[in-house]
Amino acid sequence: MRSVVTGVGGYLPERVVTNDDLAKIVETSDEWIRERTGIHERRKAADDQPVSDLAVAAARIALEAAGRTPADVDCIVVATTTGDLTFPATATIVQRKLGCPVGVAFDVQAVCSGFVYALSVADGFVARGRSKCCLVIGAEAMTRLMDWTDRGTCVLFGDGAGAVVLEPGEGTGATADRGLLGFALRADGTKQDLLFVDGGVSTNGQVGHLRMQGNQVFRHAVVNISEAIHAAAADAGIPVESVDWFIPHQANQRILEGVAKRVGIDERKVISTVARHANTSAASIPLALYEGVKDGRVKPGDLLLLEAMGGGLTWGACVIRL
Ligand code: ACO
Repeated sequence: MRSVVTGVGGYLPERVVTNDDLAKIVETSDEWIRERTGIHERRKAADDQPVSDLAVAAARIALEAAGRTPADVDCIVVATTTGDLTFPATATIVQRKLGCPVGVAFDVQAVCSGFVYALSVADGFVARGRSKCCLVIGAEAMTRLMDWTDRGTCVLFGDGAGAVVLEPGEGTGATADRGLLGFALRADGTKQDLLFVDGGVSTNGQVGHLRMQGNQVFRHAVVNISEAIHAAAADAGIPVESVDWFIPHQANQRILEGVAKRVGIDERKVISTVARHANTSAASIPLALYEGVKDGRVKPGDLLLLEAMGGGLTWGACVIRL
């Protein structure tokens, strides 16, 4: 049995923050941000809008696309670094808000790689017959972690959520080759200092702010992500060049173009949302997937390649036949 993506959804908060808006609070410019990152604007959740609300909005769209209702959902995995509360897991809050029955619900924390990690974990439930309808959600309010005096980080991030519905596929008939086909997940805890939040329950009891040595992360990104892509493609048994769409984590336009070039993917196959979404951490891949599905580029049967790198450092890649 395989886990098949049967619905995709996404949600962006209404408030748009432009580069010019940020130039009013830190020493930066629209030109610098566009040239170095490709970002034009990002969204910011309202102060009274917890991450679970973003997740629920994305999940409702994904469920409708799958022809399912909250009553069908027996498993919820939320990838987030910015959950509503220290506990319970945001996934259980989403379960309550959607009105899903008693089932499995928990969070996965792998920062920007969270969605790829969460897909792999959810695959364990669905492909082994332990879930018939699983919501996998990436949801973040990264703007809550910003130090608004640090121009090196506060211009890079935005808020949003994306979701997919996973259901078991029998591996026969027209859908025989659909599903999550291959994964490669990686982590290297020795690189913690390159990207972390300087607060936590068991250290200083603070929420903390995101700290990043951006150019060092950049240096690791292209080489390491490329290795994971080749490993995920080998796991799926497909050549990298055969993918129809490359849907990377949206941290920086230069990183996603650099990775595509290195692994031999045509730039026309890259789905990029970084200009309008900025880096929404675990939400960026499902949001980009949703954009591709919504505008008609990504169709059922297409072969997709997902990849991400984030704090930890963690990184990984996944191959999906939609
Ligand atoms: N506006 C103007 N100048 C700036 C800004 C800004 N917003 N930010 C930094 N600068 C300056 C720096 O101070 C530095 O000035 P100096 O030379 O006088 O010291 C100069 O620009 C160059 O700084 P770098 O950090 O070397 O710039 P770089 O070209 O590397 O771009 C960036 C920075 C955009 C952060 C890039 O390194 C990047 O995207 N890194 C990867 C980020 C990433 O992928 N993170 C992982 C995911 S995030 C997660 O997991 C939560």
